[in-house]
Amino acid sequence: MPVIRRLKLKDGLLNAITLAAALGGRRSHRNFTEEPVALEVLQRLIWAAQGTSDDDDKRTAPSAHALHPLRLYVSAGRVSGIEAGAYISDPMSEDLNLHVDQDVRAKLEREALEDQPWIGAAAGIITICADLVTPSQAFADQPPYGVRGLRYVHIEAGAAAQNMGLQAAAEGLGCVLVAGFKDEATAGVLNLEPPLGPILHMCFGWPSES
Ligand SMILES: Cc1cc2nc3c(=O)[nH]c(=O)nc-3n(C[C@H](O)[C@H](O)[C@H](O)COP(=O)(O)O)c2cc1C
Repeated sequence: MPVIRRLKLKDGLLNAITLAAALGGRRSHRNFTEEPVALEVLQRLIWAAQGTSDDDDKRTAPSAHALHPLRLYVSAGRVSGIEAGAYISDPMSEDLNLHVDQDVRAKLEREALEDQPWIGAAAGIITICADLVTPSQAFADQPPYGVRGLRYVHIEAGAAAQNMGLQAAAEGLGCVLVAGFKDEATAGVLNLEPPLGPILHMCFGWPSES
C-alpha cells in the first residue's frame, strides 16, 4: 500500500495570520467548489489536529495523561497528489497510509443522520477516531466511574477539531464538523478495528457561496 510522506513544517509551510483573525474567520462551510485541495493544505490540517510540535513529541492538542488515543482517518476525494481512498494518518510521522483503496465519501454520506450532502461533496473528510478502551481503563478508578475516560476522549477530539477549524480559517479553506452519523456503520465504511470508534468528521474543501 502506498505511503504519502508528510512534508516538514520547517520547509516554510506555516502560514501567518493572527490567532484573532483565525478565530474571527472560523465558520462552518457546507458548500464546496470542485477545486482540488493541495496535499500540503491537508497535511497542515492534520498537523493542526495532532501534529508533533517539539522534539519530545509534544503535540498541537493536549491529551489526558498523554495517552493520545486519537487516530485520524482521511477520506480523500479531490486532494491533488493522492489517489481517492481512505488513509490512516500515522500518529507520529503523520505519513498517510492507504487503508481503503476506493473513494468512500458517498458511503460516509449515506451513514449520516439526516440528509448531509456536504459529506459527499467535500474534497476530503478527516475523521477523528479514537481508542475508546484504553482511556476508559486508565481512568476507571476515578469518579464518575465508567465514564471519565470516554469524557476525556471527547474533550480531546473537540480540541483537535477546533485546531483544524482555526487552521482552515487561516488557509481560507472551508470546513464543517459533522458528528451526526451512525457510529457502527461509519466504522464499517472506514474499516475500523476495535477498540477504535469514530468521533467526528471534519469535511473540508474550498468554500463556494452556493
Ligand atoms: C458537537 C458538534 C456536532 C456537530 N454536528 C454537525 C453535523 O452533524 N452536521 C452539520 O452540518 N454540522 C454539525 N455541527 C456544526 C454546527 O452546526 C455549527 O457549528 C453551528 O451551526 C454554528 O455555526 P458556526 O460553526 O458557523 O459557528 C456540529 C458542531 C458540533 C460542535
